[in-house]
Amino acid sequence: MIYTGILTLFILHSLPRALGEVVPQQVAWSQESLGPDGPWNAVEVSLGSQPKIALFPGRMWHTFVSSSDYCSINASVPHCASGTYNTNRVAEDAANGGVGGRLKWRPPTQQLLAGIKVHGESKLYLDTVDLLSELDTIDEHSLAVIETEDHMLEYPGGTRYPIFTGCFSIGAPDPMQIFETASTSRDPPINATMIPWNLKSKGETASSSYGLHIGSAGPTAKMQGSLLFGGYDRNRVLGDVLSLGGDISNPVGLRDISIQVVKGPSPFGSQSPNSEPAKSMTGLLGKGNSSIDSAGLPVLLDPCSPYFTLPKSTCDSIASHLPVSYNDSLGLYLWNVSSPRYRNIVASASVLAFTLIGASNTQEVTINVPFRHLNLTLSPPFTDSPTPYFPCFTGGTGTFVLGRAFLQDAFLGGNWEMRKTFVAQAPGPNVPARADPVNVEPGDSTIEASNNDWVRSWEGFWTVLKTEDVKDSNQDDTYTPSNDDGGGDANGVNGGDESVDGSATSGEQQNGGLSPGIIAAIAVASAVVGMAIVGAAVFFRYRRKKKPAQAPATEPLPKYYSDPDTKAVMGWVPPAELPNTSRPYEVHGTFIRHEMLGDYPPTYQGVAR
Ligand SMILES: *[C@@H]1O[C@H](CO)[C@@H](O)[C@H](O)[C@H]1NC(C)=O
Ligand SMILES: *[C@@H]1O[C@H](CO)[C@@H](O)[C@H](O)[C@H]1NC(C)=O
Ligand SMILES: *[C@@H]1O[C@H](CO)[C@@H](O)[C@H](O)[C@H]1NC(C)=O
Ligand SMILES: *[C@@H]1O[C@H](CO)[C@@H](O)[C@H](O)[C@H]1NC(C)=O
Ligand SMILES: *[C@@H]1O[C@H](CO)[C@@H](O)[C@H](O)[C@H]1NC(C)=O
Ligand SMILES: *[C@@H]1O[C@H](CO)[C@@H](O)[C@H](O)[C@H]1NC(C)=O
Repeated sequence: MIYTGILTLFILHSLPRALGEVVPQQVAWSQESLGPDGPWNAVEVSLGSQPKIALFPGRMWHTFVSSSDYCSINASVPHCASGTYNTNRVAEDAANGGVGGRLKWRPPTQQLLAGIKVHGESKLYLDTVDLLSELDTIDEHSLAVIETEDHMLEYPGGTRYPIFTGCFSIGAPDPMQIFETASTSRDPPINATMIPWNLKSKGETASSSYGLHIGSAGPTAKMQGSLLFGGYDRNRVLGDVLSLGGDISNPVGLRDISIQVVKGPSPFGSQSPNSEPAKSMTGLLGKGNSSIDSAGLPVLLDPCSPYFTLPKSTCDSIASHLPVSYNDSLGLYLWNVSSPRYRNIVASASVLAFTLIGASNTQEVTINVPFRHLNLTLSPPFTDSPTPYFPCFTGGTGTFVLGRAFLQDAFLGGNWEMRKTFVAQAPGPNVPARADPVNVEPGDSTIEASNNDWVRSWEGFWTVLKTEDVKDSNQDDTYTPSNDDGGGDANGVNGGDESVDGSATSGEQQNGGLSPGIIAAIAVASAVVGMAIVGAAVFFRYRRKKKPAQAPATEPLPKYYSDPDTKAVMGWVPPAELPNTSRPYEVHGTFIRHEMLGDYPPTYQGVAR
C-alpha cells in the first residue's frame, strides 16, 4: 500500500520531466525569518559555491548581497545573520584574467531599495548562482556587493543603520546585462546573465517570467513564500489580475487606501460620541493633502523595501484610526500595546485595503492587507527590545513605495518577454499545502487566478470579534497628528527633476486620464529606479514602431536619466555623444550599454570618480 503510494507519488512527480514537459522552477525559502523590522521571509541560494545565503527576493538586473567584510564593520549591530558573500575568489580570478572581478561599474545607490534613503555604493562582480535544486548553476550573474562601511540606510532622524541583507534578482527586460568597456579599450563587452532568461535558454522553463508571493513570517499568520521562474503558483493568485505594461521600475497608480472590517463588529471605535463604530473608512490616501487628487499617487511595488513609504499626510490619516504613536526619528508608528483596541485590531477580521489602477485607468484591483499582518516588530538596533509597530513610513527620498509589508498579501508576477507585470490579491495562510505551478508562455499578457476564496483563506487566522469585545473601545488613545511635526516627511522630488524630459505630452495622450502631475511624478519615480527603465523604453519604442495601430499601455519614459545623487549617467554613452559641458568632467570605467542615450539636459555634469 504505502509502497505503491510512494511509487505513485514518485511517478506523478517525475512524470512531467520524463515526458519532456517543462514546468516552472521553484526557488527555495529560508527556514529562518529575517530583519529587525519584520520578521520577513527570504529565499535561499548559494552564490559562487559558497555556503547558502538568505536574500529578500525582488530586484531587477543584479542581485545585491553583503560581503563578509561588510559584516565585520558594525559587528555589535546584528546585520549578517542571513549569511554573506566573500569576494576573494572572484577578485583573484580577475588578477588571472577572469571576467568576474573586472567590472568597475557601480549601480546607482538607490537601486538597492526604493523606500529608504540609501548611502554608499556597491561594486559589481560576476559569479554563479545555485538555486539549490537539481538544475545546473547559472553562470556569470551580476552581484552588486555591499562592502564599504559608508553603505547604510538613513532614517528620518538622521541615524544610519547597516543593511541587513541583500536582494535577489528576479530578472530583467533584457536577456543579458551588457557592459561595454571604454572606447579606448580593446576588451570585448562583458555580459552578465539574467536568471529567468538563462533558465529559459537552457530549456528549463517555458518562458522568462516569475511569480512571487513573499508571504509572512509573523508568528500569528505565518505563510511560506513562493517564488517560481517560468511560471507561478496559481494558489497564490486570487480574484482579478491587474496586468500592467512595463516592469517593476514603472510606478503603479494608487487610487485610495481604506480601512475595512470584513467580519464582526468594528474594533476601530466611533467617530463621534453617538455614532456606531465605522466598518469602512475610505479616502485615507488623499485626506489632508490637496496635492493628491482622485487620479491617485504613483507608487513603486518594491519587494526589497520593507514598509509602505507614503506621504506623511497619508500615514497620519490611516494612523488617526489606530492606537499608535509616531516616532519621528524612525518615521514609523508604534502600536500602543496597553490599549485594548490594539489587541482587538491586530487580531480582528479587518484590513487595510489598497486600490491600484490598471493601465486603462478604468480597471481597479483592491489588495487587502489584514491587520493581522500589520503587527510587525522592531528589534535592535532600531529599538532596545522588541516593539510592535505599524509599517507606514514617512522617510525615504520622495519616491512612494509599497514594500514587503504590502507584498505579504499581494501576488507580484511578470513576463519579461512581453514586458508585463501582474498584480493580484494573494491568499491568507489557509492555502493548499502543495503548489499549483502553472507555466507562463512567452506570449502571455496575463495570468489566470485560482477559484480559491479569499475570506476562507483567512478563517482560523483572524478573530471575528464579538460585540462585548469592542464595547469599551473608546478612542482616547487614538493617534492625533500634531500640526508642527512636519519633520521626517518626504522631502519632495528633488534632484531627479533634471532627468525628466518633455515627453510627458505624448505620454499624456496615451494615458488619457492621468493628470500631468501624476505623469511628472511617474517619470521622476522612474528616473530614481534608474537604468531598469531604459530597457523598457527601448522595447516600447520598438513595439510602437512594429504595431502602430495599437498604442502600448505604458507610462511615459524619460529619454535619459541620471543618478539623482551623483548626477552620474546611468546608461551607455556613445563616445561621440558624451555631454558637452564646460565643467571638469571625466568618464572612466565601464558603463552598462543601452541604446538611445544622447540628449542631455543643460544641467548635466559629468562625475569624476
Ligand atoms: C557602524 O560603523 C560605522 C563606521 O565604522 C560607525 O561610524 C558607526 O558608529 C557604527 N555604528 C554602530 C551602531 O556601531
Ligand atoms: C554578449 O551579448 C551580445 C548581445 O546579446 C552578443 O552579441 C555577444 O556575443 C555576447 N558576448 C559574449 C561574450 O557572450
Ligand atoms: C502631500 O502629497 C505629496 C504627494 O502628492 C507629498 O509629496 C507631500 O509630502 C504630502 N504632504 C504631506 C504633508 O504629507
Ligand atoms: C495607550 O493606551 C492606554 C490605554 O488606552 C492609554 O491610557 C494611554 O494613554 C495610551 N498611551 C499613549 C501614548 O497614547
Ligand atoms: C503582535 O506581535 C508580537 C510579536 O510578534 C506578538 O508577540 C503578539 O502576540 C502580537 N499581538 C497580537 C495581539 O497578536
Ligand atoms: C524613537 O525611537 C528611537 C529609536 O528606538 C528612540 O531612541 C526614541 O527615544 C524614540 N522616540 C520617541 C519619542 O519615542
